[in-house]
Amino acid sequence: MNYRLKSLFFFSLAFPMMLGAQVRVEQLLEKGWKFTREDQATFSNEQLNDSKWQSVTVPHDWAIYGPFSINNDKQLTAITQDGQKEDMEHAGRTGGLPFVGVGWYRLNFTVPNYAKGKQCVLLFDGAMSHARVYINGKEACYWPNGYNAFAVDATPYLHAEGTNTLAVRLENETESSRWYPGAGLYRNIRLIVTEDAHVPVWGTQLTTPVVNKEYAQAVLKTSLDVPAGKSIADYRIVTDIKDPSGKVVATQTQQGVFHEGVGNRFEQQFDINQPQLWSVDTPSLYTAVSKIYEGETLKDEYETRFGIRSIEVIPGKGFFLNGERVQFKGVCNHHDLGPLGAATNEAALRRQIRILKDMGCNAIRTSHNMPSTELVNLCDEMGMMVMAESFDEWKTAKVENGYHKNFDEWVEKDLVNLLHHFRNNPSVVMWCIGNEVPDQWSGKQGPKLTRMLQDICHREDPTRPVTQGMDAPDAVVNNNMAAVMDVPGFNYRPHKYIENYTKLPQEIILGSETASTISSRGVYKFPVERRSMQKYDDHQASSYDVEHCGWSNLPEDDFIQHEDLPYCIGEFVWTGFDYLGEPTPYYSDWPSHSSLFGIIDLAGLPKDRYYLYRSHWNKEAETLHILPHWTWEGREGEVTPIFVYTNYPSAELFINGKSQGKRTKDLSVTVENSGDSLSLATFKRQKRYRLMWMDTKYEPGTVKVVAYDKDGKAVAEKEIHTAGKPHHIELIPDRTQLKADGKDLSFVTVRVVDKDGNLCPMADNQISFKVKGKGIYRAGANGNPASLESFQEPKMKVFYGMMTAIVQTSEEPGSITLEATAKGLQKATLELTSEK
Ligand code: GAL
Repeated sequence: MNYRLKSLFFFSLAFPMMLGAQVRVEQLLEKGWKFTREDQATFSNEQLNDSKWQSVTVPHDWAIYGPFSINNDKQLTAITQDGQKEDMEHAGRTGGLPFVGVGWYRLNFTVPNYAKGKQCVLLFDGAMSHARVYINGKEACYWPNGYNAFAVDATPYLHAEGTNTLAVRLENETESSRWYPGAGLYRNIRLIVTEDAHVPVWGTQLTTPVVNKEYAQAVLKTSLDVPAGKSIADYRIVTDIKDPSGKVVATQTQQGVFHEGVGNRFEQQFDINQPQLWSVDTPSLYTAVSKIYEGETLKDEYETRFGIRSIEVIPGKGFFLNGERVQFKGVCNHHDLGPLGAATNEAALRRQIRILKDMGCNAIRTSHNMPSTELVNLCDEMGMMVMAESFDEWKTAKVENGYHKNFDEWVEKDLVNLLHHFRNNPSVVMWCIGNEVPDQWSGKQGPKLTRMLQDICHREDPTRPVTQGMDAPDAVVNNNMAAVMDVPGFNYRPHKYIENYTKLPQEIILGSETASTISSRGVYKFPVERRSMQKYDDHQASSYDVEHCGWSNLPEDDFIQHEDLPYCIGEFVWTGFDYLGEPTPYYSDWPSHSSLFGIIDLAGLPKDRYYLYRSHWNKEAETLHILPHWTWEGREGEVTPIFVYTNYPSAELFINGKSQGKRTKDLSVTVENSGDSLSLATFKRQKRYRLMWMDTKYEPGTVKVVAYDKDGKAVAEKEIHTAGKPHHIELIPDRTQLKADGKDLSFVTVRVVDKDGNLCPMADNQISFKVKGKGIYRAGANGNPASLESFQEPKMKVFYGMMTAIVQTSEEPGSITLEATAKGLQKATLELTSEK
């Protein structure tokens, strides 16, 4: 258990003395939970015997354990957003996993240092979904939205001493989602115990109204909940501002003053000289440490972590962070973590951010819902901007049991919680109030709701711009919905950007959702042609990166707009990682059940497209990537195009030493001269960003590329080889030194290679895993969107030669060995270590 204890100090005038009690205790409720999929009203009873229920730890996603089935939430419907006119069977739309139905969780807990007058809150970071929380048999809270954080005041329900019982009933309806939502207590739950006077949950608001290199001003508003008969005037606040190294750089003391209309709130202002600004490259974090006193008695100690940075959107010019123009090189991500399901895990999120940053990505859109605390905190720490999103539906339905059923009653509460939760996080630079809501088609409802929701954002946080993702560019320009937004966000249809710019008052365009290019790692289709909604017998899509959906496009169709049009402020690609559900275009084609949109597959392995984005987004790093693989038994003599993704302007290609010619990125291609159908079909835009040899013929051997810089100097080279027979297994961990906390993970890339270490790109061997020592096999994934293999069973087939195996530490430190074996292959072992 994680304790954060703050000491209560007693100050006599001459001798400060520690009494040892704690004014604030925070504890994660992770262990000791009982769980069942049965449903009885008596399950909330305090005395219930739950000993036969399954023992689980939280975060827990009950559905990720499967099994997959075509009947799990099979939706008979027409997805009108995708242009479907008639109902059809959508088998894998929500991932084909058993998340529908009821689940109960129970926990016996004691409240540390509990005494009369104290307050105890349970803070749920999200519970999927329709949570009913019972404390000692009494219903204490109902919260329908499965993504949102909510706080439950447990104080009135607690026993004066001893053990308390917490029971949570969750229920997921059929047809309530367009993707895999996960199920259960999939995010953290915190128990927070405070004194009678305390800062409530999310009770501070820290803004930095003045920011420059020499000086910053920080304003901290601190709400205080006080017992009956008291007011803020009875309390004093002392706040230290600590810089990223922990040094106190400003201190303020203030006696509370009650003002009608403001209530019990302190307001403090700080001068910070030579501030260390927060940015994507320098994610410097400050902390405001506030102590609340009643007389000389410490009542609370509260920390507000923040960053000092300015954000500005300037018409015609773009988005500015600390006065510098920054374009969003962003990705949309769903919340699931592939084989881990929706269960939050810090190591997994950290890995995702690491992979994205290496690609040059600087922003994540939390499509289409409220993110977890851990994700946003990690973005603060690692330097990643966040567009924090709220809803996929307003009043008009997308799915039968979607958010429209709760909209009227819950929308303000849900939005306020999101805003309060994350308004001190510097990584959050924009709020997103909706995604492709069908209300956009209405005359007045769309703009009216837009205005209402944006006003709520401004009321709760006047510092950040608000956007939404709109996919009906004509409708929203005509009904003024787009004109209402701080930042008009358009999903797809980049060919409308120029026209909409001329019509909109903001003179800014955000690509809130772009590309939706589809591909499967390791899969290449011939002939290489641009294709829309193409399906194949193997349920995959081509990694030549030439395939997209009916409404979407290829990466370059977005690159060119955001590079050439000064008012385009960047894009959020659909998606960074593949996710469970939405196997478009394989709507009815079970066993397809996870997406093909990702730049990175469900196992976290980069597809070729990763290197295309990297070559364009991360210009400082060298990218020199050749595709496809060069092991094409049976294609001898056939045209097998070769693409090179590189940050260099030109390169020469050799097959078995024979030059195939030099290619140079064609900078004469512009938005205007490349949008016609012939240009699109002949890859005109691609020629500006990729180097392509369309006529190369396959012969076994070596493909080599030599890259040249802008002065024509050969600066880098790379080779790939035809692979021989599968020979042995390679294990490549992302990390070898782990934390012995029972949660840390090592993501191990598993490759089937020939005797010389070349990847065997056609290998589909089944690998079996054993973990010995101080860890367990947590899960595995191979990135095949049509695989029904269990994520948890320690065996899986490699998909086009690769997969990822995930090892989890136990709480005991020591060494961990992962062993991988397969018929006909030499086995591999990997040593990891964990420390406390
Ligand atoms: C968008 C939608 C996303 C996803 C995507 C697939 O229209 O906002 O949630 O469905 O299409 O291309």
